[in-house]
Amino acid sequence: MANAPKVTIAPAKGRLGILTPGMGAVATTFIAGTIAVAKGLAKPIGSLTQMGTIRLGKRTDNRVPAIKEFVPLADISDVAFGGWDLFAENAYESAVHAGVLERDLLEKIRPELEAIKPMKAVFDKKYVKKLDGTHVKTGGTKWDYAQMLMEDIKNFKEENKVDRLVMVWCGSTEIFLKPEDVHQTVEAFEKGLKEDHPGIAPSMIYAYAAIKMGIPYANGAPNLSADFPAMLELARQTNTPICGKDFKTGQTLMKTILAPGLKTRLLGLSGWFSTNILGNRDGEVLDDPDSFKTKEESKLSVLEQILQPNVYPDLYKDFYHKVRINYYPPRGDNKEGWDNIDIFGWLGYPMQIKVDFLCRDSILAAPIVLDLAIFLDLAKRANFAGIQEWLSFYFKSPATKPGLYPEHDIFIQHMKLKNTLRYMMDEEQITHLGADYYEYYR
Ligand SMILES: NC(=O)c1ccc[n+]([C@@H]2O[C@H](COP(=O)([O-])OP(=O)(O)OC[C@H]3O[C@@H](n4cnc5c(N)ncnc54)[C@H](O)[C@@H]3O)[C@@H](O)[C@H]2O)c1
Repeated sequence: MANAPKVTIAPAKGRLGILTPGMGAVATTFIAGTIAVAKGLAKPIGSLTQMGTIRLGKRTDNRVPAIKEFVPLADISDVAFGGWDLFAENAYESAVHAGVLERDLLEKIRPELEAIKPMKAVFDKKYVKKLDGTHVKTGGTKWDYAQMLMEDIKNFKEENKVDRLVMVWCGSTEIFLKPEDVHQTVEAFEKGLKEDHPGIAPSMIYAYAAIKMGIPYANGAPNLSADFPAMLELARQTNTPICGKDFKTGQTLMKTILAPGLKTRLLGLSGWFSTNILGNRDGEVLDDPDSFKTKEESKLSVLEQILQPNVYPDLYKDFYHKVRINYYPPRGDNKEGWDNIDIFGWLGYPMQIKVDFLCRDSILAAPIVLDLAIFLDLAKRANFAGIQEWLSFYFKSPATKPGLYPEHDIFIQHMKLKNTLRYMMDEEQITHLGADYYEYYR
C-alpha cells in the first residue's frame, strides 16, 4: 500500500485577497502588473509561481512541469487587491504618480485600478519622518488601531467575496528599532498596544492584526515588523505562516549572486563598496538617517553570512563593506547601483570587479510580492505555520528560527524552495549527487 502523503494541501478554492499596507510604487506595479498579466496584456517575467518550472525525478525522466501545474496555487485571475495608505489616491492615480509603468498599459486597466482605493492608514510620523498624509486613522490607542485594521479586513473580505487572505507590507521603511521587552511575548506586546508603547511601530500593528486573524504575513521593508518573538508566538497560536524582511532586489540581489560565486572559487575579498542613486518616494524616505539605518543593517548582513569569515579567515577576515544610498530625484524609480569589488586570487594578487546596474526597483520587486502572496497562501493551505525559511529566496533579511543563521546564498535558497515544493507534493528531493547514472558509485 502506498504511504499517505506527508503534507495535505487544501485546494485553492474561491478567491484570494492580497492586502498591501502601503500602496506606492511597488504595490501598484505589482497590482497593475498582475491585472495586466491575468488579462493577457503582458508576461509575468521574474515570477517563479507564474513562469518557473521544477525538475522531478531523474534527469533521464524528462519531468519538468511548470510550478503552477505541480503545486495547487491560487490562480491570478481569482485575486482581489486591497490595502492602506496615508495618501487617498486610488491605485490608478498612485501608479501614475509612481511613474514606473507606461501610461498606455495603465489606461488599458484603468477601471480595475481606479476601483482599488486605499483604506485609511495606521500611521505615525515619528516612525517615518519624511512623510505626511491625511488619510489616516485617528483618536485611538495602538490597540484600538489594531482592532480597526481587523475590522477593515473583515469588511474587505465580505465586500470582495474573498475566501482566503494574505498580507504583504509594501509601506515605507520605518526608523531603526531594536527588539525590547515589549516584543518578547504576546502578552507583553498586547499590553504595549494598550499602553501606546513607543517600541511598537505602525507596521507591527498591521502585522499583529493579520497574524491574529491567521492571515499569512510578509514584510517587504527592512523594519522590525513581525520579526520578534511575540509575533512568532502569535503565529504559532493562530497557525499562521510568516517570513522574512526586505525584498531582495537590485544591488543586494547582485551581491547574493556574485558573492557565492567568489566563495565557490575561493577568491578572497578585501573590500566591497556599494553606492546607489534613486529618486522615488522610497529614496526620499531613505534620505532620513533613521530610516536608512534600518536599510543599511539589512543590506550589510548578507556578505558576512555568505562569505563566512570565521570559516575562511585567509579570504574574508576584515573585508571592508560599505553601502550608501543617495536620494537623487531625476532618476525616479530607475535606480543606478554601482559596486566596486576588490578581490584577490592566487598568491594574494589583487583584482577588481565593477558592476553598474541600471535597474528598475519596482519592476524587480513586483514579481516578489506576487510570489510571496501566492506561496504564503499555499503554505497556509498546507498547514505550515510559523517561519517559512523556504521563502528566504525573496528577502535581504530572511527569517530563521532563533539560533539558526540565515542562508543568503541565492542558489541554496532556490534549491531549498524547490525542495520544499517537492516535499509538499511527496516527490523525491533532488541532491544533485547523480549516483544513479554512474556505475563506479556501486
Ligand atoms: N522596490 C524595491 O526594489 C524594494 C526592495 C526592497 C524593499 N523595498 C521596500 O518596499 C517598500 C515600498 O517601496 P516603494 O518603492 O513602493 O515606496 P513608496 O514610497 O512608493 O510606497 C510606500 C507607500 O507606503 C505608504 N506608507 C508608509 N507608511 C504607511 C503606513 N503606516 N500605512 C500605510 N501606508 C504607509 C506611503 O504613503 C507610500 O505610498 C519600501 O519600504 C522599500 O524600502 C523596495
